[in-house]
Amino acid sequence: MPTITFVKEKKTVEVPAGANLRKEALKAGVQLYPFPHNYVNCMGLGLCTTCRVNIKKGVENCSTQGVFEKVSMITSPLLTFFARLGNEKTLRLACQLQVNGDVEVETKPPMNWHGENYWS
Ligand code: FES
Repeated sequence: MPTITFVKEKKTVEVPAGANLRKEALKAGVQLYPFPHNYVNCMGLGLCTTCRVNIKKGVENCSTQGVFEKVSMITSPLLTFFARLGNEKTLRLACQLQVNGDVEVETKPPMNWHGENYWS
């Protein structure tokens, strides 16, 4: 069975193959959302982009980004734009991601205000 390691929380959980990352994080008591989105979010519909996570290891074990997720990321609020800089391949929406193998995940990734891909 695949494992998800939440790096900041130092927590590892075993999940069935194809498990949804958002659901497994909530089940494990891992807070995905920054305040105030822990109270106000789209409940996993892929619309608010506040459940974004950075895949530190095992990006090849994640489902591929669907068109809906890509469009959500591109048309998302400005904060997601900055969070995505330099992490275009690894920044994902937890609610849209299925885990097929071992992954290491950073929740609530910081903004990349000085992203080398953007300013250079
Ligand atoms: S919960 Fe809103 S985009 Fe994932």
